[in-house]
Amino acid sequence: MNKKIKNICCIGAGYVGGPTMAVIAHKCIEITVNVVDSNKARIDAWNDNDLRKLPIYEPGLDKIISKTRNKNLFFSTNVEMNISKADLIFISVNTPTKTKGLGAGKASDLKWVELCTRQVAKFATGHTIIVEKSTLPVRTAKVIQEILFKAQDESSNTHNSKTFDVLSNPEFLAEGSAVHDLLEPDRVLIGGEDLEPIKILSGIYEHWIPKEKILQTNLWSSELAKLVANAFLAQRISSINSISALCENTGADIYQVSKAIGLDTRIGEKFLKAGPGFGGSCFKKDILNLVYLSEYFGLPEVSRYWEEVIKINEWQRKRIYRLIVKNLFGTISGKKIGILGFSFKADTNDTRESSAIQISIDLLNEGANLIIYDPKVSKQQVEFALGLESNENNDSIKNPSLEQCAYTSNIYDVFKSSDCVVIMTEWKAFSEINWDKAARDMRHPAWVFDSRGVANKKQVIESGLNFWQIGIG
Ligand code: UDX
Ligand code: ADP
Repeated sequence: MNKKIKNICCIGAGYVGGPTMAVIAHKCIEITVNVVDSNKARIDAWNDNDLRKLPIYEPGLDKIISKTRNKNLFFSTNVEMNISKADLIFISVNTPTKTKGLGAGKASDLKWVELCTRQVAKFATGHTIIVEKSTLPVRTAKVIQEILFKAQDESSNTHNSKTFDVLSNPEFLAEGSAVHDLLEPDRVLIGGEDLEPIKILSGIYEHWIPKEKILQTNLWSSELAKLVANAFLAQRISSINSISALCENTGADIYQVSKAIGLDTRIGEKFLKAGPGFGGSCFKKDILNLVYLSEYFGLPEVSRYWEEVIKINEWQRKRIYRLIVKNLFGTISGKKIGILGFSFKADTNDTRESSAIQISIDLLNEGANLIIYDPKVSKQQVEFALGLESNENNDSIKNPSLEQCAYTSNIYDVFKSSDCVVIMTEWKAFSEINWDKAARDMRHPAWVFDSRGVANKKQVIESGLNFWQIGIG
């Protein structure tokens, strides 16, 4: 076969598909890369001349897009045509956790993967390599293979015969550092059954990644490795968050503890930062997949072990909400609370599974009024994430209501008459707040709750504010 890839199609122009294809186009100038999505508004935003309007915020992405877009990188809603032209197709569609039916709350909903695989089966021509890029439960490649091999059989005696290879090539990029992670990955993982398509996909990455960093495994190891990598990372966060509570009670300092253990090269320093709990679209979903898989294969001890990582994450969020209420004299009804940061981490506009959502909902349900500031998350995103509705003319609507929640694009509005502010995201701007100015506007006695450990402790205390910081006794 040894064919050269000239045309790539990526189905799904989201947080994974967009940046990944931009970097491939940037590094492989002889390949045409078409990113398709059924969501027209999203594609229009990717095509907007104003690069500030790209649908996702990722440091450095705008520069790469400006170099590649409409040269060898194209964004389009024409899914069928671009499938038919492609030698290689990345499937990068959404795979949320199922909300109903078998496996609800744990298993991934493969609706979108199945739908787009059927589109591939119908419109692909000649030989096409299909690459799973979305995070998927182990053995999803099997589902993709079954659909495609059926189409392959049906077309075999026609003049439009089509053939497929299926590979797993999980994405390890983290939002906020996606461009860097794509340009300099720790490793690239390619899982497959035949050597030839693996070599072809590897050839694309070899444009900029040393060959020894490109790992080849079987399909199932590749799929499982992705889930396990995320589960291990999340497990470290739950571990350190559990210790943060112990530090607060014993007088120890979580930063000193993290440093002391992280210097042990067997442990390592990364992913030991205590916070309000992990968010993002992957960690919870991938652990739930692992839990479901273990249950399915009759391994309840394994499933309970991993489930505990999520339980600690939920407990950490509740713990922070409770200590806010407790410190504000046990009641926050009618009080004004400023929320600093709404994205699930700094340097992204993504709010999926952000701890700020659950903590804000708990505060709203206690009757607090919130004012929210985030440098990259929009008012609409906040309202959508919190499920806010107006109850102006309808008292039967239960909290939280739109009237309880304000949004501002000016960071210092958050302090005006507020009883406390809660730092939810580690945006750099929050370490540069002028606390004297902030304190002058707050209603005293006022509190600063820093769930990320980014505020300047000395300045906060000197400005006369009460201060709680995660993991400090
Ligand atoms: C993660 C994986 O890191 C990435 O490899 C995978 O491809 C997708 O999932 P992402 O969710 O984008 O990436 O961000 P990540 O940096 O892993 O952070 C996830 C959450 O953990 C964030 O809410 C972050 O604030 C939190 N976190 C991270 C901590 O609370 N402490 C840490 O030390 C690190
Ligand atoms: P991720 O974080 O994994 O990239 P996103 O939700 O940001 O996930 O992006 C997935 C994208 O896939 C969405 O923009 C969605 O519209 C798109 N999508 C899902 N199914 C299809 C399909 N069958 N054809 C085209 N686009 C699809």
